Amino acid sequence: MEKKKILVTGVAGFMGSNLADRLLAAGHRVVGIDNLEYGRKEQVAEGVEFHKADIRSKEIYPLFEGVDAVFHLAAKNCLPDCQADPVATMDINVTGTANVFEAARRAKVPRTLYAESSAVEEGDDRLKGFYAISKLADGKIAEGYRAEFGLDIVGLRYFNLYGPRQDYRRKSPPVMSKLIITFLKGEQSLDRELGAERPVVFEGDEDNKRDFIYVDDVNDFHMLCLTDGRVKNKLFRLGSGRSTSVKEVYDTIVKLMGVQPNPIAKPRPPGDPVVATLADWSEAGKLGWKPKTSLEDGLRAQIEWMREEFKKGNIR
Ligand SMILES: NC(=O)c1ccc[n+]([C@@H]2O[C@H](COP(=O)([O-])OP(=O)(O)OC[C@H]3O[C@@H](n4cnc5c(N)ncnc54)[C@H](O)[C@@H]3O)[C@@H](O)[C@H]2O)c1
Repeated sequence: MEKKKILVTGVAGFMGSNLADRLLAAGHRVVGIDNLEYGRKEQVAEGVEFHKADIRSKEIYPLFEGVDAVFHLAAKNCLPDCQADPVATMDINVTGTANVFEAARRAKVPRTLYAESSAVEEGDDRLKGFYAISKLADGKIAEGYRAEFGLDIVGLRYFNLYGPRQDYRRKSPPVMSKLIITFLKGEQSLDRELGAERPVVFEGDEDNKRDFIYVDDVNDFHMLCLTDGRVKNKLFRLGSGRSTSVKEVYDTIVKLMGVQPNPIAKPRPPGDPVVATLADWSEAGKLGWKPKTSLEDGLRAQIEWMREEFKKGNIR
């Protein structure tokens, strides 16, 4: 395959760092941008030309020179943080995205791919959230740049990604990270005979379903986008095509970790309604892509990585 120069924003985050590894393994040159607000420098591979920079700054423009494709993944995406600070959310996710498109336009980058989110199609409640609003706005800005400047911009509407390096440090960690941390701590407590930390399960968890997709499966599609002309200016939904309940996630993690938890059942918290999401990934499927990692295999890899984090003392 022809070697390309690829720029990744949000390269120190969950998806960006995994994508950079994949691009380097394929022999591509990777330029990475991150302001390290949420990301971690130590998970950026050595081969990445890393720039600690903010996507809202004009200083990023020169970095786009000679780039063959941009993956724009940087965002403020911890939902409680977005709800707490709508202005910062719009500044980073909307102005920041416009600035990335502008940088790509000035440097005549042939293809720009940006991160959308299934939050924009999760029903009225979610749509009122500032994160979803910012992602909807990004779609409109993309339309504008296509129409006015002829930029090739591909929208990637991700459903719920999981896997190694998922950001477990945020105030409200994604469900899988949260459960794995509880069980890791519980295991440790048992070792010390302090009694296991007890996980919380909520009413309705068996109907609360998400389309969870493993990070490497999404990277398969990212790689395809580098060479396939058919993706031009399109929007793709990327999910596993399977809606999995939080209860099933819980049971699978329990099985894989071999723990015997004693969960505390609680009523559903307000602001966390029962929702079911399911990706129609047929557009991506037409290009020959399909998700291939089972929930068990994906969770096994995530548990293994989180065990290492725990051993290193990173999970407290
Ligand atoms: N992970 C998911 O399940 C999921 C689902 C749908 C959409 N997305 C979108 O995919 C993208 C990547 O998500 P992720 O899970 O890897 O998130 P992440 O938080 O792990 O990574 C985002 C990175 O962007 C960086 N960043 C934030 N603001 C910045 C700024 N102003 N300038 C430069 N860098 C900045 C952060 O430091 C972080 O490293 C985001 O746009 C997110 O909204 C993710």
